Amino acid sequence: MTFVGSAVRREQFPRDGLPEVAFLGRSNVGKSSLLNALARSRNLARVSAQPGRTQTVNFFRVDNEMYLADLPGYGYARVPEAVRAGWEQIVTTYLTDRAPLALCLFLVDSRHEPSKGDATLHEWLDHFGFPYVIAATKADKLGRAELTKRMKALREGIGRTAREVIAVSAEDRTGIEELWGAMRRATAAATHE
Ligand code: GTP
Ligand code: MG
Repeated sequence: MTFVGSAVRREQFPRDGLPEVAFLGRSNVGKSSLLNALARSRNLARVSAQPGRTQTVNFFRVDNEMYLADLPGYGYARVPEAVRAGWEQIVTTYLTDRAPLALCLFLVDSRHEPSKGDATLHEWLDHFGFPYVIAATKADKLGRAELTKRMKALREGIGRTAREVIAVSAEDRTGIEELWGAMRRATAAATHE
């Protein structure tokens, strides 16, 4: 996996039509860490000590298979209004007109109830009819019983219209291969359409 570049406008998105998987979720949910785990790299995507830092769409290329698009996280309270407006602009731009989009990866923190922003994103995905997989992040931080309980709640809640709901951890690599499987199935199907 290689870093291709950061985009703030539509003209800067890749144009070669390779199918794409978009990483979406609230700030600090673990998007960059999950990208690094998928890539088996320590520092391909920058992991932020402070949330709300990524304000661009960062594109990564997986050979001739797919692009991964790391979108800015939402829901961080302490960002200025102008930054928040900029976030909505770029994510809306991305979601409303991105032909190569094969799958949305919707990251939620496995430890918490979905936030207001998560509920809004869920509505958008259903409204646009995008296929999505839920990745419940930081699964290493929960005990087995608690994780089972949280996964059930996700499957019955915002995950009820998802293709799959997968518990993942960038820390101990739970679910990473399963996630690659879901991503490959979606992008291969898009390539052969
Ligand atoms: P923004 O780019 O700011 O939106 O954040 P992000 O969603 O990219 O999150 P990031 O990967 O930067 O991780 C946020 C914090 O959560 C960091 O302190 C990570 O070390 C921690 N973290 C991420 N994934 C995991 C995980 O699987 N397990 C544990 N224990 N910590 C994690
Ligand atoms: Mg990030």
